[in-house]
Amino acid sequence: MTTLWDPITVGNVHLNHRLAMAPMTRSRAQADGTPGELTAEYYAQRASLGLIITEGVQPSDDGQGYINTPGIYTDAHVAGWQPVTDAIHSAGGAVFLQLMHVGRMSHPDNTPHHRTPVAPSAIAPGLAMFTAKGMQDAPTPRALTVTEIQSTVQDFRTAAAAAIRAGADGVEIHAANGYLLHQFFAPNANERTDEYGGSVENRARFALEVAAAVVEEIGAERTGIRISPAAKIGGLNEGPGSADLYRHLVRELAPLNLAYVHLMHSGDEELLRDIRRIWPNALLVLRPGRARADLAKDVEAGLADIAPIGSWALANPDVVERLRTGADFNEGDRTTFYGGGAAVNPDSPPVHPAAVG
Ligand SMILES: Cc1cc2nc3c(=O)[nH]c(=O)nc-3n(C[C@H](O)[C@H](O)[C@H](O)COP(=O)(O)O)c2cc1C
Repeated sequence: MTTLWDPITVGNVHLNHRLAMAPMTRSRAQADGTPGELTAEYYAQRASLGLIITEGVQPSDDGQGYINTPGIYTDAHVAGWQPVTDAIHSAGGAVFLQLMHVGRMSHPDNTPHHRTPVAPSAIAPGLAMFTAKGMQDAPTPRALTVTEIQSTVQDFRTAAAAAIRAGADGVEIHAANGYLLHQFFAPNANERTDEYGGSVENRARFALEVAAAVVEEIGAERTGIRISPAAKIGGLNEGPGSADLYRHLVRELAPLNLAYVHLMHSGDEELLRDIRRIWPNALLVLRPGRARADLAKDVEAGLADIAPIGSWALANPDVVERLRTGADFNEGDRTTFYGGGAAVNPDSPPVHPAAVG
């Protein structure tokens, strides 16, 4: 039986256990998207998690949705990420930058350019989100043209190249959790009648084009992708039949030979087994909110290769050691999760509830 403590190679990266750090937005970047001064120390403190998947990083200025999130599309961003990737490597970790284009989960008050958010169709998510002026409804976005979809594919490509220039070991394409690529999957956000809407093949097309472009640019061994089948986040409802879209997506990703698929698993066990069968390379499976006692289950059952850890790692930078030795976890403080500061403790409800990416 495989255990959490067995080594594995993912793409080019050799890991000495089956844990990883899940991507978590912290809103600590400078106004221009350059990583803030806490970033290198924050990630280096958690490098024992092995594979560090960073917070969502916008590949373009239209990709930004929240205040003070980092980017990877200017020279200043590349220079700002370099000390972060260096610090993670020096502490023994590997790092994939998560490329996150939020699509309609944005607000003009949150971006330096103040433009209307973009999306598959002009359909508002129907949600309030945290903005620079407090909680406000996310506005109705404007639909991307086909030419703009193609230039967004190029934005992912150039952002991936920039991440590698900044010293990252790879990138994770964010196709989960209600953001742009996921919005294309969901019929209640995507009413397009062109080749990017309608059938399963059409709704999956954009994500597959992004994956192919990133693989071509930086190599399959440096590319991962995150999906969250059936997750009702950001106002998305993929409806019945959504599992078929993911079967198609993973089947089409397989020949691209990406380093990994990262599944945020909402509980369709048959789909998980199918993805496991279809997908030839590493499979990361995260069941949000699982009990500590259940962390190893999917790896031990052969359903997953890696069990990433999200929020436990915030108040427990040494979570790997705590798991190894059975030590208790510190309790995290949700009020500080997205707040931008250095603290990760006390206790009360989330202040930026819409920012879970
Ligand atoms: C503070 C915070 C920020 C997050 N930001 C992101 C993000 O940028 N990208 C993403 O894919 N998921 C994001 N997530 C989701 C986590 O990656 C993870 O899937 C979720 O927290 C469930 O895992 P957990 O039960 O181990 O916390 C975020 C979660 C938290 C708590």
